[in-house]
Amino acid sequence: MTRIIAVVSGKGGVGKTTMVANLGTALAKMGKNIIILDANLTTPSLGMHLGVPLYPVTLHDVLKGRANIKDAVYSHESGVRIVPAGISLRDMRGVDSKDLPNALLDLLGSAEIILLDASAGLGRETLAAIEAADEMLVVTNPEISAVTDALKAVKVAEQLGTRTAGFIVNRVSGKSHEMTRRDILNMLDNVNFLGEVPEDIAVQRAVATRIPVVNHSPNAAASNEIMRIAAGLVGEEHRFKPSMPWYKKMFPFMGR
Ligand SMILES: Nc1ncnc2c1ncn2[C@@H]1O[C@H](COP(=O)(O)OP(=O)(O)O)[C@@H](O)[C@H]1O
Ligand SMILES: [Mg+2]
Repeated sequence: MTRIIAVVSGKGGVGKTTMVANLGTALAKMGKNIIILDANLTTPSLGMHLGVPLYPVTLHDVLKGRANIKDAVYSHESGVRIVPAGISLRDMRGVDSKDLPNALLDLLGSAEIILLDASAGLGRETLAAIEAADEMLVVTNPEISAVTDALKAVKVAEQLGTRTAGFIVNRVSGKSHEMTRRDILNMLDNVNFLGEVPEDIAVQRAVATRIPVVNHSPNAAASNEIMRIAAGLVGEEHRFKPSMPWYKKMFPFMGR
């Protein structure tokens, strides 16, 4: 069975595309068959996060009825397959996001999980992604505006009959102005907490090189947490590679 999971936030810039690229890559590293799809039709960026911005057939061609979605699936070196969106403004002409749920039907059975990268806001495009999905994963930052929008997204999913799998708090740095985990849990009461990805310069370095951080810097704090969240999504456990203390590296006979 194929699980379609929409990654949604409400507020823009919180890390949806980063999560889709990295959760997808993390799951592929675990041997899962994964497709990631750019459902951000007006301002797509998934292809750019992965370093391949131009594809001959895109989701836009599919939504215009010019191609089957199976012709818009591309293998990527990260191990995932990607359905990219057209990146030129012209691509939008004749495209209606409400056709997304139907277009996805032909992908059922061709992957274990399809992750949809939704656009910012809770407009038509995002609604189409939530509607097309069986589950929604909410990404937020530890700030009130992002958590408020996350809560709205949960309400919208409820109305559309899409199950909220849980939420991820991204870019947590522990500074005093941030909302605490307890505050966030209070606001997103009844929503499953999946994890907390730290603010990590490794993520920005990875985005700049267009390689998902879980591949670019597998030992970075953010990568470890993303791997753990990915494992949780499929009911598995991620084993941390504990780094060896310095004294054991220098004196391997110590502390046995
Ligand atoms: N955990 C993180 N630590 C540091 N920077 C991050 C983190 N997550 C995301 N970013 C930065 O935030 C930017 C915006 O993230 P993006 O995934 O494009 O957000 P969205 O898709 O929600 O608009 C990324 O390009 C990246 O530089
Ligand atoms: Mg995005």
